[in-house]
Amino acid sequence: FSAGPLQGKHVLVTSGPTHEPIDPVRYIANRSSGAQGTAVAAALRDLGARVSFVTGPATVPPPSGVTVIRVETAREMLAAVEAALPADAAVMAAAVADWRVENAGAQKMKKDGSGRAPALNFAENPDILATVSKSANRPQLVVGFAAETETVVEHATAKRLRKGCDWIVANDVSPATGIMGGSENAVTLISETGAEAWPRMGKDEVARRLAARIAEVLS
Ligand code: C5P
Repeated sequence: FSAGPLQGKHVLVTSGPTHEPIDPVRYIANRSSGAQGTAVAAALRDLGARVSFVTGPATVPPPSGVTVIRVETAREMLAAVEAALPADAAVMAAAVADWRVENAGAQKMKKDGSGRAPALNFAENPDILATVSKSANRPQLVVGFAAETETVVEHATAKRLRKGCDWIVANDVSPATGIMGGSENAVTLISETGAEAWPRMGKDEVARRLAARIAEVLS
């Protein structure tokens, strides 16, 4: 419906946290408003892309004009992502829980009066970014995010290689930056050719710049 450099291209975006149940009323999760992923999806849409937006339970509403696929857990997110492929590019902005509770209860856990707390056993969740990067259906361009609290570029550079994605958008989410849950972001774009620090700007502007860079690669 809109002309633009990404017309005819399909881009997959993941966003938001995942929730991993402990029992029917409790869960563990990562902190994520979904703001940056939502902004990326909107910016890609504005350049004419067809966007599949796979989102966990985020705080901000999903953008209009994209296909929204709602999930709760990491395993559901992986299944939704695999079902949405093939795509020309994928941007994985979701804050996926690394672990799920293996002994989640089918019923609400009750205090038994003994004063003993329940023990949770954790199992590792699939890494969606790494799985997509190594998949036979791999998009031409795979972009991950990396929220770090120290030695951001070093950690993110190692992460790019370990996960097998093309780019990592790295940001410092130390509490002092105010980035987590805020409207601004200060990112470093890490690619095969090195690290490019962008000035601090609104999350919408980060998204527009990233979408423009994606369009350069795909067109
Ligand atoms: O390892 P870390 O969680 O910091 O990596 C962040 C990147 O990997 C993000 O792009 C995130 O969406 C993705 N990721 C994923 N599946 C996981 C963990 C992280 O897709 N299980």
